[in-house]
Amino acid sequence: MNTMFDIPIFKYKIENWTEVKATLIKQFKNSLSETVSNQHDGGQIHTDFFKCIKEPSIPEYIIKSLHCMDPYIVKFLGEVSDYYSKPSDQIGVSSAWFQKQEEHMLHGIHNHGAVGFSSICYVKFDKDVHLPTTFISPFNDFLFGNTDYYQPEVEEGDVIFFPSMVQHYSPTNSSNSERIIFSYNLK
Ligand SMILES: [Fe+2]
Repeated sequence: MNTMFDIPIFKYKIENWTEVKATLIKQFKNSLSETVSNQHDGGQIHTDFFKCIKEPSIPEYIIKSLHCMDPYIVKFLGEVSDYYSKPSDQIGVSSAWFQKQEEHMLHGIHNHGAVGFSSICYVKFDKDVHLPTTFISPFNDFLFGNTDYYQPEVEEGDVIFFPSMVQHYSPTNSSNSERIIFSYNLK
């Protein structure tokens, strides 16, 4: 038997996490974060995504945050070359943002566009109380037609890369501990 389709996901552990976390939290505090609600799914998050894309140039705090990701972007691009139609030196970050979920907040089902890969770094994440990003298979289970879900095993200080087109969501934070991620798209 062969498998017709597969969907890759990559995970790396950030080195010197204590220092990197301090840098990222500092940048998040400098961010253009606002509270955003989604009337369709009842979701609510804090994010600088919409303000960032309106900025004439990439904000300095985003550039500093992306520098923390540089070694892992390089590693990822080294491993992923078969999936991209252009050389890795022509692939860059097209957008980047932070997201914070306080108690009861959720980020509903969405994707990051039709092409390329996206990345999430778990900046403040308590795996005892927070849930990982939950991915939804583009294909239903072929025996029963059920929707398939995938939750990567992640902990604080992990960074993952996944195809931007895969639908995903961040489940409700049912704890009073805030959950913060830094995310970006590579095109
Ligand atoms: Fe997302």
